Amino acid sequence: MKTRITELLGIEHPIIQGGMHYVGFAELAAAVSNAGGLGIITGLTQKTPELLAKEIAKCREMTDKPFGVNLTFLPTFAKPPYPEYIRAIIEGGIKVVETAGRNPEPYMPYLKAAGIKVIHKCTSVRHSLKAEAIGCDAVSVDGFECGGHPGEDDIPNFILLPRAAEELKIPFVASGGMADGRSLVAALALGADGINMGTRFIATKEAPVHENVKKAIVAASELDTRLIMRPLRNTERVLMNQGVKEILEIERDKGAALKIEDIHDKVAGIYPKVMTDGEMEAGAWSCGMVAGLIHDVPSCRELIDRIMREADEIIGKQLAGFAKG
Ligand SMILES: Cc1cc2nc3c(=O)[nH]c(=O)nc-3n(C[C@H](O)[C@H](O)[C@H](O)COP(=O)(O)O)c2cc1C
Repeated sequence: MKTRITELLGIEHPIIQGGMHYVGFAELAAAVSNAGGLGIITGLTQKTPELLAKEIAKCREMTDKPFGVNLTFLPTFAKPPYPEYIRAIIEGGIKVVETAGRNPEPYMPYLKAAGIKVIHKCTSVRHSLKAEAIGCDAVSVDGFECGGHPGEDDIPNFILLPRAAEELKIPFVASGGMADGRSLVAALALGADGINMGTRFIATKEAPVHENVKKAIVAASELDTRLIMRPLRNTERVLMNQGVKEILEIERDKGAALKIEDIHDKVAGIYPKVMTDGEMEAGAWSCGMVAGLIHDVPSCRELIDRIMREADEIIGKQLAGFAKG
């Protein structure tokens, strides 16, 4: 399938694997890229720029297809040395960067000078327009359904995507709630040029996370995510578990007076415990409502081939049949 996104990124299928903390390692990025999508290494999961350079080199050994790096500008507890991470990305020959969180404008000149295509992930039309204005090549429009940080506007993709299509000139992909061929066709119908998936790619054979995480996603329904950190205006959609229950109790008690220190031990340093050690009750980890649509653990190639086959069938048979009527 050819869209503005496949053309821009030089990939076969319009499917991107979004950056995911402690999930987006070389193994997953290479598997997605080898299957014809765009795999993405999560920059800040690598504790230093030197380690990111090694992860990029490792991924390059595993695929000769394009892959990207995610750089998240979130209010993290530590202050990462972003310029040095960017140097590792440029020196590693990376040609696609997914930025997320705060405005990437200060870093745009360096990325553009290195010929890097920048896809900014954002949760509103106004932020998408800002990304377009500062020279981003594409945006990933993250609806309220998404795993991770859906922002504070709470606009689901059935509204957000067509609104983005009305306003944007640059290509964009639909992110949040995407799982299968139905998602891809719907996203295209709403004006997007492809899809970005997070949660769906965790439940794949190659995702280098503990089996417990994959089992938890397959077992979860669309009712099992919760929003935390709302009073801090740093809302995150996470899978319900004991740690999240405790966070929600603290948030209820503190109300608007909540401070990050009140829940710090249940939101910081949790990812290695969950993703590596499989401690499923340890605390908060991002997960989308799309868990309700995830029923198996295929390889990335099986997943992407299936999405493209389903999309072809829906467009060629189901929808073509309606058009005739
Ligand atoms: C476990 C997990 C970790 C994530 N970590 C990051 C991250 O570090 N940076 C980022 O920009 N997005 C992160 N995301 C968001 C994804 O890249 C993607 O935008 C989101 O998962 C899309 O929604 P979906 O889960 O419904 O597909 C994360 C998502 C998940 C599920």
